[in-house]
Amino acid sequence: MTAKISYDKASFKDFENIPDLNLFERAQELSSFLDFMKQKDRLNYRLINYNSAGATVQHKDAAGNIKECVSFVSNDYLGFSQHPAVKQAAIDSIIQYGTGAGSSPLIGGHYEYHQVLEDKLCAFFQREKGSALVYTTGYTANSASLQSLLHKEDIALLDMAVHASVYEGCLLTNTKKILHNNLEMMEMALKDAQHKYRTKLVIIDGIYSQDGDMAPVKEILQLCRQYGAYLMLDDAHGIGVIGKTGRGVLEHYDLLKDIDIITGTLSKTFGNVGGYVISRPEIIEFLQYQSRQNAFSAAATPAITGVVKAIELLDEEPQWQAKLWDNINYLKNGLTGMGLNVGNSCSAIVPVKIGDPHITGDVASLLLEMGVYTNPILYPAVSKKDARIRMSLLATHSREHLDKALAAFEYINKKLELA
Ligand SMILES: Cc1ncc(COP(=O)(O)O)c(C=O)c1O
Repeated sequence: MTAKISYDKASFKDFENIPDLNLFERAQELSSFLDFMKQKDRLNYRLINYNSAGATVQHKDAAGNIKECVSFVSNDYLGFSQHPAVKQAAIDSIIQYGTGAGSSPLIGGHYEYHQVLEDKLCAFFQREKGSALVYTTGYTANSASLQSLLHKEDIALLDMAVHASVYEGCLLTNTKKILHNNLEMMEMALKDAQHKYRTKLVIIDGIYSQDGDMAPVKEILQLCRQYGAYLMLDDAHGIGVIGKTGRGVLEHYDLLKDIDIITGTLSKTFGNVGGYVISRPEIIEFLQYQSRQNAFSAAATPAITGVVKAIELLDEEPQWQAKLWDNINYLKNGLTGMGLNVGNSCSAIVPVKIGDPHITGDVASLLLEMGVYTNPILYPAVSKKDARIRMSLLATHSREHLDKALAAFEYINKKLELA
């Protein structure tokens, strides 16, 4: 018989796979937990937003009235999902091709608009044509590609803070988790794996999604070369934010042409939905035929053409990246000035580290009450003692938006004695 879960101390992880309960009983147990969380005003998930993915959101309060909040939960870093030229490109493509692709890329769903985007991505990453493959999400760009690339003869060495999609992609292979940004442990693991596996693939992010910090890519690449490993880097949060022209962490390190596999998303800076893999043409061709998503799941819709315009805007309108950095610096200075801990963030992701998950929940609820929408990040997304409020900064946040957030943090900081 399963012991009753104490809701007061529980996290979603506790409901993942309760022994002895069948699937409906497990679903019922989670449902009871969600009711409990709702009663405690801790359920800031799946809130319906009545306006666009930008600097503000509109929610309905308990009385059904629309309430506008400043939002720090969208990753539309440069505001391109709302840019008139990006919207127009998507609309034009829908008018030309319709709303769906009708088939998977391998068996009839690969259209001219996909090819134009893939060629554009090759040029953006300074690679020859044939070096890019588009997926329908950034998640599957990682999970589906890795599942076809790595098998039981191989090993993936993962920085432990990589995205959930990478963990899923590595279910069919051997894995070694490396403490976050720990070069010593990386070297030990590479040395150990050197002669034991067919392929050694180190997988890191450019910018990490919970801390907003950067990987020491140069040193990691050097270790990979020394021990005969390949390097894969997911720069979902670096593109548009880092690098002189927004080409991400690899532009920052001047390593754009040196990484074996680059992955990323079209859902953040590029303002759409989708993902991509950049690699040598033979790897791209391998994925076109062997990655199951490309054979068994429908291709991206014509609206993805908005990304082609978003890529051009990075060069044509650099003011958005400059404005984003003004905003990042302003908010971070304000928060650290109050004594709050933003960790090692050097990107548009700004965490406010609190530690205790219950206090973190209270902070998120108070912020929302005060019209500031943020994400409380709790276990298992981070370790149990490392709960935090996570904010994503956008170029489209105004000074008033940031001042409102800072005023709310100042009030809560005093009330709950966070710093
Ligand atoms: C580092 C990282 N990789 C991949 C993804 C998945 O991207 P998508 O939303 O396009 O599926 C995310 C999304 O949050 C991410 O943070």
